[in-house]
Amino acid sequence: MLSPEDIRRVPTLDALYGAIGDYDMTPGWIPRPQPILWHEPNTPFKPAHWEWRVSKAGLDAAGRLINTELAERRNLVMRNPSNPNGIATTRTLVSAYQMILPGEKARSHRHAPHALRVILDSRGSYSVVDGNKHPMETGDIVLTPGWCWHGHGHDGDRPAYWFDGLDVPLNHLLEPMFFEEHPDGFERVHTLTETSPYRFAWADTQRALETAPVDAEGFQGRRIRLEAPSMPTMALSVNRWDTGFRSRPYRAVANQIFVVMQGAGRSTIGEAELRWSFGDVFCAPVWKRIQHAASADAVVFSMSDEALMKFCHYYRHEALD
Ligand SMILES: [Fe+2]
Repeated sequence: MLSPEDIRRVPTLDALYGAIGDYDMTPGWIPRPQPILWHEPNTPFKPAHWEWRVSKAGLDAAGRLINTELAERRNLVMRNPSNPNGIATTRTLVSAYQMILPGEKARSHRHAPHALRVILDSRGSYSVVDGNKHPMETGDIVLTPGWCWHGHGHDGDRPAYWFDGLDVPLNHLLEPMFFEEHPDGFERVHTLTETSPYRFAWADTQRALETAPVDAEGFQGRRIRLEAPSMPTMALSVNRWDTGFRSRPYRAVANQIFVVMQGAGRSTIGEAELRWSFGDVFCAPVWKRIQHAASADAVVFSMSDEALMKFCHYYRHEALD
């Protein structure tokens, strides 16, 4: 390695690059395959779609082949097709389908990443969050903010299925990961919680959608926001798109995941044309053109990192009429 005096006297740029490279520095001005700055978002993540009929078959097979002793959570992770070796659904978010059998208990644990569940089909399952037993019935949305204990159980008589959404990829990027298993295995229940800031009951969501104002600009249809101040990395909403609804196209600086809670329709995300129905999940990476159309009265849950983008002052939204 050259001394500072020798570096000061290097005869050529190439010699300079070699000398500073030995000290783990690189010139900011040279061209490189991945430039440092570019004109607008250009994500490698792809728009993608996961069908419920395929995923449910996979979960049913897993229910036959593996139990909760072997698998802490019986879930199928929706990895983006841009990275077959990864687990991320979008740059910051990951989603999975999960199933629990009658009588099973998925042991309690806690982790730094924030998590939520959208219950697709369940009668009698529940989540114990910090000692409070939250019912998980079809259509409910249940939150488990970072570092809350959570375990799942099922008192019903048919398998229960739900969607999981977490900000694990964001956590992997920023590296504040902590994870712990509960010392008792399954956390003891202190109270049964029908009303909780961590549970949005389906009946309440439906009622709120009835009176929710239609987005005057035409991008979202009828929409309610779910307030989740304990999970500030995510923006959560439920949208109602009646038969024949067609949204105004837009793009936004947000990574979004959609869960079809009811109905059917079609969305164009970037170049991809996705036909969806109940239970399907699809994602829109940052800055892709988005347009939705409903062919049967639809209720669609959406989670995104919009809240985080706004906090960072990175957020943009643009109509694409
Ligand atoms: Fe968890």
